Amino acid sequence: MTPRDIAEAGRLVRESRYLIAFTGAGISAESGIPVFRGPGGLWRKYRPEDLATPEAFKRNPRLVWEWYRWRMELVFSAKPNPAHKLLARLEEKGILKAVITQNVDCLHRIAGNRRVIELHGSLRRVKCTRCAYKAEIRAPPKEDLPRCPICGSLLRPDVVWFGEPLPEGELREAFLEASKADVVLVIGTSGAVDPAGLIPLYAKKQGAKLINVNPEPNRYTGIADVEARMGAVEFAKKIAIVLGIGEASLG
Ligand code: APR
Repeated sequence: MTPRDIAEAGRLVRESRYLIAFTGAGISAESGIPVFRGPGGLWRKYRPEDLATPEAFKRNPRLVWEWYRWRMELVFSAKPNPAHKLLARLEEKGILKAVITQNVDCLHRIAGNRRVIELHGSLRRVKCTRCAYKAEIRAPPKEDLPRCPICGSLLRPDVVWFGEPLPEGELREAFLEASKADVVLVIGTSGAVDPAGLIPLYAKKQGAKLINVNPEPNRYTGIADVEARMGAVEFAKKIAIVLGIGEASLG
């Protein structure tokens, strides 16, 4: 990434007619929430594909809840970082039209973004495995195996597990936003998980330019129009200067 690339990213953002952001775990890494893949991405010896499935929950709900309680602790104590705040400032200014996120930490909303499409649910909600009960939570459940207050069945986090469909409305909206976008800021995702990972590819096919912010190569490397090979916070601070947003407002 050269200063020319940052200038080019700034130009694309400034001249965009319909800018959207597509984010993954990497945007929250510097808020203290570990990513799923790559360095530091594993919890004990488990991959997310071993824990975030209905089968894993059936087999060993205690283990799955242990993992989620640990992640919930991190999420509940995390604060938005300058990269989340950059997206909030860009929406305030009318430049950014929507954030499509795979994250379940709600940090985009907490940072102030209003138009947030959450594709994979939220760790700040639980739902019943049997009945329609769903609830917002303010802290991780205390019990090893939390139970539904209505029917007594096991509760689970209200997130999308591997093998489960994404919420239909959100998925439809996300692709609609991608079809309208002329520039997509892709921040902190490996792009490894479909269908979400297809969204930037779809936008690109419809003619959008991609700005790919990631310290490592990912699925979009090679097709992105600007490769920002750096962490989300460094990128946010640099592009804020180019856009005249003022680093202080990201603090
Ligand atoms: N800034 C930006 N990107 C970063 C940073 C950082 N500081 N640190 C790490 N990254 C990048 C990594 O290089 C990696 O490409 O963030 C990406 C994180 O990738 P994943 O862990 O695969 O996270 P994500 O893309 O969100 O995963 C998609 O997989 O397990 C499921 O449902 C889960 O929503 C998640 C989905």
